[in-house]
Amino acid sequence: MSYPSPQKLITLCLALFLVAIFFVSAVQHSTPIKALKHTAQSAVTEICSGNEPVVVHHDPASAFPTAFKPIRFPITSPTYTDPTGRQWHLPSTPKWTQPLANEILIVDMDTRIPTGPNELWNTTTMNYNTLDASVDSQMVSAAFMNHFLYARIHGYDYRFIAAPHLPSHHDTWIKPFVLSSLLRSYRFVVFIDADATIQHLELPLEWLFNKWNITPRTSIAMPIDTEQILGEDRNASKDSRGKVALNTGFIVAQNLSLTFEMLDAWKTCTEGKRYPECGQWKENWSHEQRAFSEYIRYDFNPKGDNIVELPCDDAMGFPGIIEDHPHILANCSGQFVRHQTMAKERTKENASQALLQVMAQLTQRSLQMGREKYWVDGTEEGWWASLKKVVGGD
Ligand SMILES: *[C@@H]1O[C@H](CO)[C@@H](O)[C@H](O)[C@H]1NC(C)=O
Ligand SMILES: *[C@@H]1O[C@H](CO)[C@@H](O)[C@H](O)[C@H]1NC(C)=O
Ligand SMILES: *[C@@H]1O[C@H](CO)[C@@H](O)[C@H](O)[C@H]1NC(C)=O
Ligand SMILES: *[C@@H]1O[C@H](CO)[C@@H](O)[C@H](O)[C@H]1NC(C)=O
Ligand SMILES: *[C@@H]1O[C@H](CO)[C@@H](O)[C@H](O)[C@H]1NC(C)=O
Ligand SMILES: *[C@@H]1O[C@H](CO)[C@@H](O)[C@H](O)[C@H]1NC(C)=O
Repeated sequence: MSYPSPQKLITLCLALFLVAIFFVSAVQHSTPIKALKHTAQSAVTEICSGNEPVVVHHDPASAFPTAFKPIRFPITSPTYTDPTGRQWHLPSTPKWTQPLANEILIVDMDTRIPTGPNELWNTTTMNYNTLDASVDSQMVSAAFMNHFLYARIHGYDYRFIAAPHLPSHHDTWIKPFVLSSLLRSYRFVVFIDADATIQHLELPLEWLFNKWNITPRTSIAMPIDTEQILGEDRNASKDSRGKVALNTGFIVAQNLSLTFEMLDAWKTCTEGKRYPECGQWKENWSHEQRAFSEYIRYDFNPKGDNIVELPCDDAMGFPGIIEDHPHILANCSGQFVRHQTMAKERTKENASQALLQVMAQLTQRSLQMGREKYWVDGTEEGWWASLKKVVGGD
């Protein structure tokens, strides 16, 4: 089947729009021009958006919250069962009971800007099949799609920061700066690394906040890092006090005055004024991550829940991490946030898995919601006999 060219279609729609204005105004003399325009516009939108290529540009993601509603998991539901049947439970009195929707911002920031061939921000249609996650900017394409989709399913806001390189600092030092600047406009800002994926797209952050005991006074939450041996160093994942570091691959920040104090101390850490030794983490691993774990988490946690350390298995690592990597000491399998730190090329597989799962769930639910219409019970008593009668059998 052949479609008219986009130019022809636009001309056609424009003509239709003018004709529609003419007719509508002829019928409704008293209607103000603005309302007329609106009526004509909606008529043309309907006519021109049928099965033809998209001409009327409305954001398809604005329909996601409604479309995914049937499978969105309730925020306060006591037990979540994942597709494998594994269960997790909420504490008895969940703190978050109402959707936070656009009070939450999900933010991606990266210097690997995916505008190249077959990448997310390129205007040419992606070929998902050939998306090659061993190429950095294609890996980030898969992850950012996952983050954006997750945001839109739950009505969270989303930004991608195409990040600059930083002078005399590792690029990841940008995290506290961006968090601090965005947080004034939201209740929560949630940052997710470009090699991390949300594994259960139907499960809202509010449910996870409840699971993790993130309270209205929690400033920052981050997962405990995957313990590993680097070289001969069994303490590689620990700070100088022997406590396992936090991983900045997933950061929840809440708009509270303590959070801004914390972020300021973190941003200025390498200047060495407050923390004379901090300069060593400018470019040395693990940069801003180590600085937070070494200093900030001890100085800004007066009530003990101002900084929440998330279980490693919930938000770090991936299935197979311990089996496939002998230097890894903790079996963190990324149950909710999957972080492919050592297997970046698998980011696409896990993102695909999450996407297919949620589409399968939605399809299954939709089919079953329409059971009356879609399901015909041919095993019912008398059905076959009646069919034979209609067909004109014996
Ligand atoms: C976008 O993709 C097209 C098609 O692969 C390619 O020709 C173009 O160079 C890409 N744009 C950029 C900015 O790389
Ligand atoms: C952020 O916190 C400040 C101080 O409590 C408050 O005035 C502001 O409304 C908050 N912004 C949002 C978007 O929640
Ligand atoms: C690792 O840390 C422990 C306790 O913090 C210490 O006793 C041990 O010497 C450290 N090992 C190395 C190789 O630094
Ligand atoms: C980075 O770490 C090395 C080894 O621990 C150390 O010698 C060096 O001084 C550090 N770099 C800076 C800028 O402090
Ligand atoms: C690691 O955790 C995964 C998922 O919970 C589990 O399937 C696997 O058996 C565990 N592996 C080890 C070595 O404990
Ligand atoms: C997810 O990625 C891990 C490695 O990061 C891999 O072992 C696993 O098979 C992937 N899962 C799926 C469903 O693709």
